Amino acid sequence: MDLHILEHRLKVTSIAKQGLFVFTHPLIKLIFLRSRTRCKFLSLTETPEDFTLVLDEEGFKELPCSEYLQVEDSMWLALNVVSNGHASSSSQAVGVTKIAKSVIAPLAEQHVSVFMLSTYQTDFILVREKDLSVVIDTLQEEFNIYREVGGECVPVPSQDVHNGFQKNGKEATKATVHPVLSPLNKFCVMSLDPDTLPTIATTLIDVLFYSSSCKDASHSSQDLDCVKFFSFSLIDGYISLVMDTEAQRQFPADLLFTSSSGELWRMVRIGGQPLGFDECGIVAQISQPLANSDISAYYISTFSFDHALVPEEDIDSVIDMLQEQRQMKLE
Ligand code: ARG
Repeated sequence: MDLHILEHRLKVTSIAKQGLFVFTHPLIKLIFLRSRTRCKFLSLTETPEDFTLVLDEEGFKELPCSEYLQVEDSMWLALNVVSNGHASSSSQAVGVTKIAKSVIAPLAEQHVSVFMLSTYQTDFILVREKDLSVVIDTLQEEFNIYREVGGECVPVPSQDVHNGFQKNGKEATKATVHPVLSPLNKFCVMSLDPDTLPTIATTLIDVLFYSSSCKDASHSSQDLDCVKFFSFSLIDGYISLVMDTEAQRQFPADLLFTSSSGELWRMVRIGGQPLGFDECGIVAQISQPLANSDISAYYISTFSFDHALVPEEDIDSVIDMLQEQRQMKLE
């Protein structure tokens, strides 16, 4: 298996809802007018708390300074696992489940904090740039590691483990157990040919920028059991969308596509208090049991919380599993 360290240097930011108007102009440029920017990595996720915007340095330059913008200090790099042909396991599971044991768990053991971003196409594991040498050292046993430089993949020479970095032999410190919540909406994970993006532009603008204005009043006197979650990403020319079935109804049915099985997903939201960026092992705690049971999952971190999406038929057993794990840790 190959692990690619992508060239993008990423900032993780949060736009306050009441300040969205300050950012609509740059966001429209970043999303719809690709020829006008050099931004190659953009992910925008609306949650009840805020809009989480993850974007590369080029994109970040487009944003105005504003009291409504919070920026996490670090520079983040995206890792991506590329399976080179031969299926390495019998598992049919997709998403973060596939990389739980090979990437997520080892990084957590070495106290590396990650920020996950699953898309329709792949799963990006964001790590802080300053942690890169620990990351390489931790993952080099399992992977051939390549670094993208000027669009080319350059093999990363293996580091000498004994010279410098010492493997952290200690038991991973017991991770905090965070409460989980499972809203009732059902989600789909979809994609779109970038050339047809103009065709859904008005719908996307409506859903992204105006969703909270009129609909909520008429619809579901604020469905307490449903949670606002809409994610759009445009990364290296690939589009990925995560939306609930209600948002999906607003899009023309023939343009968005999803995997042939067309499954729907339920969400597990992780965190009662905002999770911050320094704690490690949260993704590991969730993805490990999923991997043990071979349950597919997408995983999307936002500025405040983490979100796992699991097949709807598995939600009850997943919640049970996580509650059990929680119970055990609390005892
Ligand atoms: N850093 C966490 C981990 O390593 C995941 C991200 C949680 N924080 C957040 N703001 N979503 O497991």
